[in-house]
Amino acid sequence: MTEEKVELHRGLRDVYIDRTTSSFIDGNIGKLLYRGYNIDDLAENASFEETIYLLLYGKLPNRAELDEFDAVLKANRRLPGEIIDIIKLTKNAHPMDVLRTAISALATFDPEVDDNSKEATLRKGVRLTAQAPTIVASHARIREGKDPVTPNESLSHAGNFLYMLSGELPEPEDVRLIDKDFVLHAEHGVNASSFGARVAASTQADLHCAVATGVSVLKGPSHGGAAEEVMKMALDIGNEENAESYVRDMLSRRERVMGFGHRVYKAVDPRANHLRPDAKALGERKGQPKWFSILQTVSEVMEPYARRGICENVDFWSGSIYYLLDIPDDLFISIFTMGRIPGWTSQVVEQFENNILLRPRLQYTGPMDLEYTSIDERE
Ligand SMILES: CC(C)(COP(=O)(O)OP(=O)(O)OC[C@H]1O[C@@H](n2cnc3c(N)ncnc32)[C@H](O)[C@@H]1OP(=O)(O)O)[C@@H](O)C(=O)NCCC(=O)NCCS
Repeated sequence: MTEEKVELHRGLRDVYIDRTTSSFIDGNIGKLLYRGYNIDDLAENASFEETIYLLLYGKLPNRAELDEFDAVLKANRRLPGEIIDIIKLTKNAHPMDVLRTAISALATFDPEVDDNSKEATLRKGVRLTAQAPTIVASHARIREGKDPVTPNESLSHAGNFLYMLSGELPEPEDVRLIDKDFVLHAEHGVNASSFGARVAASTQADLHCAVATGVSVLKGPSHGGAAEEVMKMALDIGNEENAESYVRDMLSRRERVMGFGHRVYKAVDPRANHLRPDAKALGERKGQPKWFSILQTVSEVMEPYARRGICENVDFWSGSIYYLLDIPDDLFISIFTMGRIPGWTSQVVEQFENNILLRPRLQYTGPMDLEYTSIDERE
């Protein structure tokens, strides 16, 4: 057969599918902006609440706007009792499967589920952002045989998540780490999960469908699952002395070192620069500096790979931070998800505002025009 002559873009590498004002990435110098603001400024100065507002409404809020927005977020944290029942029924599944299922189920309780106007989509995005931590924390407790903790309106988004997880008021330094982690994960161009969310939106499916798609796509180890894999690797390495030979063995087997490499960044991911000192300081504060030392050694062994554009990404340090905050490793991707819902929402709004069905092509390479034979005549 003569193959069709087509220009293939496998993996859509470097293919621009649309325009956006949500975020800008320059992968060659490791630069990331949300709505024009540098991630370095946001990570050091902005709360997650301010960042959500920035992504959803396109500007940083003033004090009155932030207070009003924060009150709406807080008022939407609680889950219908039926969602808690669904979490109980699915409690033995992976937290991302429970989160995806609960988000799907929340669609049936959202009065605006079918309204794809910008205003309703933003309101739904706020609700889902507010509800996701309650789903994740409730599941984490239910599977341990504990009761879910009622959200605490005196705490920030990040603080309330840690509170709902442990049932105890969190340390302010721990809250700041999770808050920053949410800020760093909030938006990132048309990565695989945002692409998934956009594909759903491009069919004019609603925000709950798009976010459920985003959660599904994010689960994979090549995307959101890497932080969990990095910490598993660190635990497997066990101590600093083993780290160099462990990584060299991995590389000689041509295995990928999780937390390294990125489709867009060919320099260090700027988000990793913020988490590295935090991981070090947290390890010292918790009296467990060895995890940082192990990862630091892994990073040193990987240094020659930087020439090929394989550098630390955001997931390299985040896993050790979650681990030191006593967060179970299968919850790590859910934390990424909680941070990313505003980014998915912002991109779904963009997709709706200037919609075009996302429908690429595949080059067919199978046989042609085979003769159909009836079942009794087949060998
Ligand atoms: C993220 C990722 C999927 C991007 O991959 P990509 O852009 O498709 O790059 P490719 O898979 O084409 O890899 C290009 C080359 O770099 C190598 N490479 C990429 N990431 C690597 C890693 N983490 N460790 C070792 N080698 C790596 C590949 O083996 C390949 O080498 P080759 O050309 O000799 O075959 C990939 O870097 C990866 O699997 N990283 C680990 C998972 C991870 O941390 N994900 C979180 C991303 S935020």
